[in-house]
Amino acid sequence: MNCAVLGFSECALQAGRLAQELQIASSDVAVRHFPDGESLVSVSATPKTALLYRSLDDPNIKLVELLLAASALRDNGVDRVMLVAPYLAYMRQDAAFHPGEAVSQRVVGRLLTQYFDAVLTVDPHLHRTDSLAEVMPGIEAVSISAAPALAAEIDAATRPLIVGPDSESRQWVEAIAHDSELETLLGSKRRDGDREVDLHIAGVERAAGRSVVLVDDLISSGATMIAAVRALRHAGARRVEALVTHCLADAACLKELKQAGLDSLRATETVPGPIGSIPVAGLLADEIVRRGWIN
Ligand code: R5P
Repeated sequence: MNCAVLGFSECALQAGRLAQELQIASSDVAVRHFPDGESLVSVSATPKTALLYRSLDDPNIKLVELLLAASALRDNGVDRVMLVAPYLAYMRQDAAFHPGEAVSQRVVGRLLTQYFDAVLTVDPHLHRTDSLAEVMPGIEAVSISAAPALAAEIDAATRPLIVGPDSESRQWVEAIAHDSELETLLGSKRRDGDREVDLHIAGVERAAGRSVVLVDDLISSGATMIAAVRALRHAGARRVEALVTHCLADAACLKELKQAGLDSLRATETVPGPIGSIPVAGLLADEIVRRGWIN
């Protein structure tokens, strides 16, 4: 076997879809948990080129198991080990904001370079860092945008108002609204804590009586999206939907979003789960082929 996608159990479906798009084999990474919490990881295929597939939501345990899997592949003669991590964690903390803090972006980025020949991800949560290549020096580190997949979900014929909750969401708002020339609004946000945000949408009165689609890269605590939904409902929006790349929301957060007045929430499959259903396998496969990672 020359190339294969290897997926962990929670993302076996998504890994299988990528393999299908690439027309290569897929295989499992098996994990057994010992009573003390340690993980025993084993790989069932050892192709010449392995695309190891795992999103790093719930990152601490998944990261360790990922490194164990990469190491098992190398030990069993795999030449090239590429990581496909549609959701990549620890990309936010790019500086020590208070004395004594670890710079997790640098630590995790460098760690991955020791185990992988290349990394591919979708919409990494980089703030002040321009590109993923800076985070992972010496390997091919590539990010793609989920905007085309999100844009395909919009029914442009209904002329929805596209709203980004904060300045960071501008790139997705612009990419999604551009082709159909949809009207847009962009909010501004001050974060006061993990779950406290102060959000203001200039021109929000334009949402009155309209169907609105909120667009963002990430729902983490949900505070940003909840505040944006409330502001739009308060302004009289008739229908409010949300479209995001990565949805990490737990059940309590989903409930709060609904209570705030959100009618529907859709996210890409980068984070496996009931919300994450918009496929990105085609986008990932195109990039892998374009870069000649499989042959
Ligand atoms: C901001 O930089 C991002 O685009 C998201 O708006 C933010 O990370 C969402 O986080 P939370 O759901 O915790 O408000």
